[in-house]
Amino acid sequence: MADIETKSTAEMTREERIAAAKARAAAKTAAAATETSAKSAEKADESGDAEVSEAAQRFQTRKTSEKAGASRKAREAELMQRAVTVSPRSGIEQLPQAEAPEKDRLAVNRREFLTYAWGGALALIALQGGVATLWFAYPRFKAGEFGGVFTMTSIPAEGAKPDDMLAGKFWWSNAFTGEGMIALYKVCTHLGCLYEWKDQTERFECPCHGSKFNQAGRNIKGPAARDLDQFVVAVEDSTGAVVDVTTELHRYVTAGEGLTYKVDTGRKILGRPSDPSLHVEA
Ligand code: FES
Repeated sequence: MADIETKSTAEMTREERIAAAKARAAAKTAAAATETSAKSAEKADESGDAEVSEAAQRFQTRKTSEKAGASRKAREAELMQRAVTVSPRSGIEQLPQAEAPEKDRLAVNRREFLTYAWGGALALIALQGGVATLWFAYPRFKAGEFGGVFTMTSIPAEGAKPDDMLAGKFWWSNAFTGEGMIALYKVCTHLGCLYEWKDQTERFECPCHGSKFNQAGRNIKGPAARDLDQFVVAVEDSTGAVVDVTTELHRYVTAGEGLTYKVDTGRKILGRPSDPSLHVEA
């Protein structure tokens, strides 16, 4: 080729000129192919950039769409949450307090009203029961008034007139039998009249129907059919220790100096049936 190009055309043979022409044609064809390839590559590059750009745009559009969808769903969920609230007690769907009108927030439904009503009624019953328990548990009568405890620090002489305890409604008697002290309820065991002490006869006599009782409260003449009722007496020594107490069988308590007697007018012992052997004619 170099040899062919270095020779002048005149010097070339026919074959050499043909070869030179073919070489130039081949070179031209190669150059054209190269140029075409470059243009194709350039076009390909342009086409590739466009595809990338289009893909990026589609990606961006999809992202934007997804964000918009997520935002819309979140907004819808928030609206649903704010729109409906389920009451934990009644299970009834209701508008939340913040969204409900003022009159609706103050109102209660029928089930809640019945629940509150039942609860209030039960609480009231429990309160009444508690108050009643305390009422019966605590002493209702104060010391020194009928129904309460009377403290006696003195005793009448044996056989002397019993002390009239007006406030306590009892006679404080030192029984002539020598058995001890006794607190006699002032009400007759016949029909409930108030009997009196008679100095002349030294006994208790009822003005209503004539029943009579001795100083120890024993029935000695009818129509009463039993002895006088009496109250429980507790005897305490100087240290406050209880040394004697009235019981159903032990009706007279110890009489002595330096003792304190607690007469409980809230605890009554009924008189025993009359003993006919004690009855007198007048
Ligand atoms: S009420 Fe006392 S004797 Fe009848």
